[in-house]
Amino acid sequence: MADTNIGFVRSVFSQQVPATYEMVNHILTLGLDIAWRKQAAKIAAMADGGQWADLCTGTGETAVYLSKLAPKDTTVYAIDLSVPMLEQARKKPRARRIRFVSSDTLVLPFADESFDLLVMSFATRNINQSKDILVRTFTEYYRVLKPGGRFVNVETSRPSLWVVRRVRDLYVKLFVKSIGGAISGSSMAYGYLAHTIPRFYGPQELRDIIRLAGFTKVNFQRQVFGLAAIHQGMKGCKSQPLVNDSHPFLNKGGGLSYRD
Ligand SMILES: C[S@@+](CC[C@H](N)C(=O)[O-])C[C@H]1O[C@@H](n2cnc3c(N)ncnc32)[C@H](O)[C@@H]1O
Repeated sequence: MADTNIGFVRSVFSQQVPATYEMVNHILTLGLDIAWRKQAAKIAAMADGGQWADLCTGTGETAVYLSKLAPKDTTVYAIDLSVPMLEQARKKPRARRIRFVSSDTLVLPFADESFDLLVMSFATRNINQSKDILVRTFTEYYRVLKPGGRFVNVETSRPSLWVVRRVRDLYVKLFVKSIGGAISGSSMAYGYLAHTIPRFYGPQELRDIIRLAGFTKVNFQRQVFGLAAIHQGMKGCKSQPLVNDSHPFLNKGGGLSYRD
């Protein structure tokens, strides 16, 4: 069984990175990461309210978007293993409406069926590149979701067009480590980012990994030539009709469907 790289992740997100994390992302993606997070939050927020969580929240950008979109009386949790990243998140004006929890998401400190919605942005690559560990992690997410609950994940992806992939890989090689390292002071962290982006799973492979953890109706939406992808899966429930049959990710064939 593959090992988690939790020690490495903790060290990457505990040194120079947290203070400049958001600025570096916005510069390196030319602001696209903001649009992708917002789109994932918008898709996610079609869920009923209740208990929502942003997993691997980092500096809490997605948790803030979720908190703005959440129905009244929804509790939004923001969970991450890096205390320095959570400290940055806590500085945000909206933070007082969010509950922060420091935890490894592979072993969540919540009972089975606690959440109506789980969201994760740009953390899948950091959790691990190993299929085995990703399946274990998503199985843990499945455990804490209520039947009928949804998991929405946004991550950089593999563009299907060869030419887009080549341009993306060249851009990553030339700029990610150099610019990210220069601004943050950690070439190790941005060298790691540059190493993992071109090697990460394509959208179909990630969909299959999410399915292996038990999720049903798993689907994805490519963003900007497939540079990123937003995946969504449901925790099945035998007897209830879908909460939102008109959702674009679900029920593509039309008609009333039931959770499987
Ligand atoms: C690239 S950042 C993404 C942060 C944020 N979600 C965003 O959209 O910018 C990855 C985050 O995942 C966290 N992380 C990685 N593996 C984790 C794990 N197993 N449990 C909890 N947090 C984890 C890191 O501490 C880091 O804050």
